[in-house]
Amino acid sequence: MRDLTPDKSSLDPIEIASRDEISALQLQRLQKTLAHVYANVPFYRNSFDAAGVHPDDCKDLGDLARFPFTVKSDLRDNYPFGLFAVPREQVSRIHASSGTTGKPTVVGYTQKDVDTWAALVARSLRAAGTRPGDVVHVAYGYGLFTGGLGAHYGAEKLGCTVVPVSGGMTDRQVTLIEDFKATSILVTPSYALSILDAYRAQGRDPRESSLEVGIFGAEPWTNAMREEIESSFDMHAVDIYGLSEVMGPGVASECVESKDGPVVWEDHFYPEIINPETGEPVVEGESGELVFTSLTKEAFPIIRYRTRDLTRLLPGTARSMRRIEKITGRSDDMIILRGVNVFPSQIEEQLMRVAALSPHFQIELTRDDRLDVMTVHVEEAASGLGDDGRKAAASELSGLIKDVIGVTALVNVCDAETVARSQGKAVRLVDNR
Ligand code: DLL
Repeated sequence: MRDLTPDKSSLDPIEIASRDEISALQLQRLQKTLAHVYANVPFYRNSFDAAGVHPDDCKDLGDLARFPFTVKSDLRDNYPFGLFAVPREQVSRIHASSGTTGKPTVVGYTQKDVDTWAALVARSLRAAGTRPGDVVHVAYGYGLFTGGLGAHYGAEKLGCTVVPVSGGMTDRQVTLIEDFKATSILVTPSYALSILDAYRAQGRDPRESSLEVGIFGAEPWTNAMREEIESSFDMHAVDIYGLSEVMGPGVASECVESKDGPVVWEDHFYPEIINPETGEPVVEGESGELVFTSLTKEAFPIIRYRTRDLTRLLPGTARSMRRIEKITGRSDDMIILRGVNVFPSQIEEQLMRVAALSPHFQIELTRDDRLDVMTVHVEEAASGLGDDGRKAAASELSGLIKDVIGVTALVNVCDAETVARSQGKAVRLVDNR
């Protein structure tokens, strides 16, 4: 793997500014954002009034904790455009989450918001080691999902040649990477594994591909998965984080020289970590739920949005801005099995240690009498393991899960291509209780 560390002179000055400079900019932008929503969004005016706070009460960054949270149901309750802070005519783009239950959540962007977003994705790509002139293969879905178009505009802004493939037609993904000699790929980590399988099925060596860096996000993935992808493709693998309510991809992104968790682009987003039960801020460095306030958005500013993502805030390393630890999971995805909290990412971590098993997996929950049962469905790495081989692999994995995580899991080793594949975000958990 080639050293892709970007030249310091190519960074935005604020990325390496002093903490004081960053905080001063944050406060100024925060005050403006609070005034903007109070003046233009009835929902915020009402919720601030009900909590007895006014934008003028925000004299320093710590005062933000006095303002009320925003949660996903607030977006649904104001469907479709009730939280927009500018007249609809000034909104140049809409995105929405599919929403498995009920109404989708809708977000909007002014032209300036679209430009800021592109600049932040360009910054994220530069941090990943992508350079102007590179061929960038975008396999995130295009459409209402923010992944495809978000990545696309950022890569164009950086001056790259963008290949807007979107998800699906996995064999063709391989052909296009090979024919167009892509050097960067943006894709969910789970779909990257399907592309990897397609490489092998076509008899091509993924290590010989032109790819130098993959920029993976939209779902949790572990450092064990990073190692697997890096060695399989002989490329760097970095983490990009974001959510549509806050912007889309590029809220935070990892630096290729450190690979130590996504850097929050703090000049545009103010992060907090709270105790998910009490809503109180945790001590700096402790784990909890990530909360974001946008600092520059015009059409869809958001105040103290509870992401449900669980992580910690860490001090800056390759940049002055703070990092988040790789997201271990969402509070929604947490399985409580006989009193023990388990995240799919913990299962992934153990599974990557068993050579006979592929990284494709799905967790199923069922009920036996009154007890919950967790079954991990996972494919064998190569066919021909045989009954004994499968049994040994299953007991190796269930042993690791028992020893490291402390829960009992059944492991079902199945044929290749039998665990459900996604072309975007993987469904890791199926609840059949
Ligand atoms: O997934 C935006 C995105 C697209 C990010 C492409 C990165 C790359 P949503 O569909 O609104 O937006 O889903 C947001 O996905 O709250 C997390 O739970 C999860 N997520 C996103 N990035 C990561 C990541 C996009 N790097 C939700 N690691 C978030 C772990 C992630 N989880």
